[in-house]
Amino acid sequence: MDMEKRPLIKALEAYTNEETSRFHMPGHRNGKRIPSLAFLQEHLYDFDVTEIDGTDHLHYPEESIKASQILLAKAMGSKESCYCVNGSTAANYAMIFGLLRPGDEVLLERSCHQSVFQALGLRGLKPRFIKPKQDPEWALPLPPDLTDIKEACEKYPLLKAVILTSPNYYGKVAPLKEISQFLKRRSLYLIVDEAHGAHFAFSDQLPPTAMFMGAHVSSVSFHKTLPVLTQGAVLNLSEDLQESERSRIRHYLRVFQTSSPSYTMLASMENARAIMEEEGKALYDELFREVGLLREKLTRIPQVDVYGKEDAFADATRLVIKTPLPGEFLMGELRKKHRIQAEMTLGSSIVFILSPFDGKDDLERLPEALAAIKMENEKLWASPVSPFILHYSEDLELLYDMEEILFLEKEEIPVKDAFGRISAETITPYPPGIPVLLPGERIGEKEVRLLCDLFQGSGILKSASKSKMGITVLK
Ligand SMILES: Cc1ncc(COP(=O)(O)O)c(C=O)c1O
Repeated sequence: MDMEKRPLIKALEAYTNEETSRFHMPGHRNGKRIPSLAFLQEHLYDFDVTEIDGTDHLHYPEESIKASQILLAKAMGSKESCYCVNGSTAANYAMIFGLLRPGDEVLLERSCHQSVFQALGLRGLKPRFIKPKQDPEWALPLPPDLTDIKEACEKYPLLKAVILTSPNYYGKVAPLKEISQFLKRRSLYLIVDEAHGAHFAFSDQLPPTAMFMGAHVSSVSFHKTLPVLTQGAVLNLSEDLQESERSRIRHYLRVFQTSSPSYTMLASMENARAIMEEEGKALYDELFREVGLLREKLTRIPQVDVYGKEDAFADATRLVIKTPLPGEFLMGELRKKHRIQAEMTLGSSIVFILSPFDGKDDLERLPEALAAIKMENEKLWASPVSPFILHYSEDLELLYDMEEILFLEKEEIPVKDAFGRISAETITPYPPGIPVLLPGERIGEKEVRLLCDLFQGSGILKSASKSKMGITVLK
């Protein structure tokens, strides 16, 4: 094969040949440790079909896809569950469009995923923000509790819905049960972005699912933590919704998704659900034993701290560690010198997504690699520099409608000169895909500093501006 004509394949092959331990999504790793994937791999192209006699229709299911979704709903504890082939992104759009009308007020966290903000903008909704909370020691966002929700509901009496992310990127879950009970008394919808919690349904050692805790709807990215091809996700609808509401959400799934869904992806979701029903409990019991040992080994390394050690309301498969080194540097060293790829870094924290399909050898290599990096960087380890902290503005107010801004006059200016200007674009570090700046938001002093740090870093930044240190603002 001429790889010069196939630059993407060349890059993917190079990563595969590195034999790096993958602590990042998708949850299948490279599928090598999942015997029941062999059948799907063998038939990858055979199963890549379209809507013909006998293969049913994702958007109007009546036969095999309908039967598969009934089994899915049983596993998810929902009234109805729908496969999504455009990730939780499409599910978030469909939930928001199906339950809310233009002009409705919605309460959400500042640290929502970009798909939620995009859907709000497209639907013409009025976002109201929950005051952001951070873990003081770790500088990581914390989910709101019932008091935060009650306070916000007092402040904004016209709300129609609350959108929460649970778990968040760092494995923290919100107290959804008490929040859902409170919201139901007020006839408010609870929409949960549960993108990172697809595995919760399959082990009693994991937090309960949003469906179980009383959410009206939830989106779960199967591909993030289960053995599923990238983009595979599920939208869950609870029995608290009327058929008319469910039917509107189904309508919007058709609007926001391709009319040519990938059957290989659908098959991989069905297979993952079956694997998890058959073996999930045992697989996670085994993983938790390994995670316990791993955490112990990590905390024995001086100045390595593990997030959420004693937290019963957290997902222990989400390993977040902190060392004296800046996260970006440590993540680079892990990859370059030790063939370990983490999911993401924020400040001095690094996030690893653990899965029952990680090899024991991969898990064992992590503390060894950290101990080696500590030895090689004794000076830095002894005198840590404080890395930049991602912060979300406390009192975010969007001064313009996000969609309207597309039609207003704009200019690109250097970030360092952006103080006081109104952003005309979304700036999103990826991962986690949470915008640090939204269109219509005034750029303050803190934002300028944060953006300069972000733009100088090597992380993937999604920005519309053409120059690296430029930002698009309203004229
Ligand atoms: C919290 C959250 N919600 C939604 C999404 C979008 O999910 P997907 O990639 O399945 O479209 C992500 C992706 O990273 C996410 O982190």
